Amino acid sequence: MDEAETGETVPGHLWLEGKTLVHLRHDQERPTHMPRGPAKRTGPGFLNPAMAPARTRSVLLMADALEHGWLTKADQPLRALDALCATGVRVRRWRNEIPEVHQNRLRITANDLDTFALNWLKRSHNAYPPAVSVDHDPEDDRYQRPAMGEMNNGIYTMQNDARVTLLEAGYQWVDLDPFGSPVNFLDAAVQGLARIGFLEVTATDTAALTGSSQGSQFRRYGAKGIVDSYAHDDAVRVLLGLVATTAARHDRVVEPVLALFDGHHVRISVKVRRSREGASRVLENMGWRIREDNGTYRFVQHPTPEEVERGSGPLWVGPLWDADIAGRITEERALSVCAPTVEEVAKGVEMGLEWSEQDSEYASRELRRSVRYIADAADLMSRDHTLYHMDDLPNMAGTGRAPKMEVLFEAIREAGSAAARLPDIDPFLVTDAPHDVVMQCVRERI
Ligand SMILES: C[S@@+](CC[C@H](N)C(=O)[O-])C[C@H]1O[C@@H](n2cnc3c(N)ncnc32)[C@H](O)[C@@H]1O
Repeated sequence: MDEAETGETVPGHLWLEGKTLVHLRHDQERPTHMPRGPAKRTGPGFLNPAMAPARTRSVLLMADALEHGWLTKADQPLRALDALCATGVRVRRWRNEIPEVHQNRLRITANDLDTFALNWLKRSHNAYPPAVSVDHDPEDDRYQRPAMGEMNNGIYTMQNDARVTLLEAGYQWVDLDPFGSPVNFLDAAVQGLARIGFLEVTATDTAALTGSSQGSQFRRYGAKGIVDSYAHDDAVRVLLGLVATTAARHDRVVEPVLALFDGHHVRISVKVRRSREGASRVLENMGWRIREDNGTYRFVQHPTPEEVERGSGPLWVGPLWDADIAGRITEERALSVCAPTVEEVAKGVEMGLEWSEQDSEYASRELRRSVRYIADAADLMSRDHTLYHMDDLPNMAGTGRAPKMEVLFEAIREAGSAAARLPDIDPFLVTDAPHDVVMQCVRERI
């Protein structure tokens, strides 16, 4: 039996994610900073360091909701559930890194089916408690069967099928981070939300979402894809489309806040509101992306059979982000909320953390990278825009090569339009400039 189950000692070795001490299995190598792919090994207790940026953004969004009151009013609690919490790194980061002034409003529930993972969570949380101790009784109105779970220094843990936990109480914040596709959990997640809620969904089945695995895409998402430069954006929009239509079936309407293709996964974050009228209009934001002969695309709602041949969909064709909220997700904000202070690192070292100055430097670089380009692209991503893969521009413009990104952006801005870089593993320009203006700027600036 593993130490995590016996509870004898804290197993593994220490690592710092954000400003939270996490412990890794003794046979898991220290993560390299800025990992770009999924962990090579998986299994109970393995921390996937490639998901750290997504957890950082989750902390920042929650801090923003509490600070700006866009989910619950300033004096009211926010009930948050990580329905598939594994070893609980996300919930522990919420509890440890959300600014202290908001901590007493947070009600955090962590659920997983796996005993080993939950024990791991509790051991970590007890051995490395949050900076500010927050404890409260489980609320009666929330847990009709309080005996089901266990309160532990501000984190209520439950061991259920996620679909049961999701339906137990009205959460304002639900995180769904399954292995692979989230489709099995979406109905329960939407039904379990309060009247106004926030849903964050991760999907790692990118082959299905992009259409490189056509059968799975059709079965899971009811969509057809084309694997070209727009496949990442298609993946985001296919998942958003499924979440929006699922919400509509339960008389809810979604408002996207952030939606990203982050290498090996897609993550979308949406506000969800009860509104029959809004739900009835969901198809206004659904459509197809039709490829044009000039290399770009347009969205249509009702494609002809010929357009379907060179189209991907059905997918979400509405705005992808909330300009104000995403506009506040800056590198400075990531550092101020999630970077450990010198004292916090020193405290970790006292507890056995091995952390050099170089680690601190890499960690702050990774925090910056987690949110890089988001604030700059926020305005464009919340309204009509066109994406261009930088590698496609030479062919499109007939120039043989493309200008440097920043040079091109400047030219587009000088021509009176907006331009920004999309946060994606590939270099994408996002702009509201007409196509001929983009082509002219490419030709002028090479
Ligand atoms: C990708 S992990 C979650 C990672 C976690 N959110 C994090 O940030 O570290 C998926 C988890 O879902 C759990 N799981 C799978 N099916 C489940 C179900 N039906 N109900 C509850 N938990 C489930 C697994 O035990 C696993 O721990």
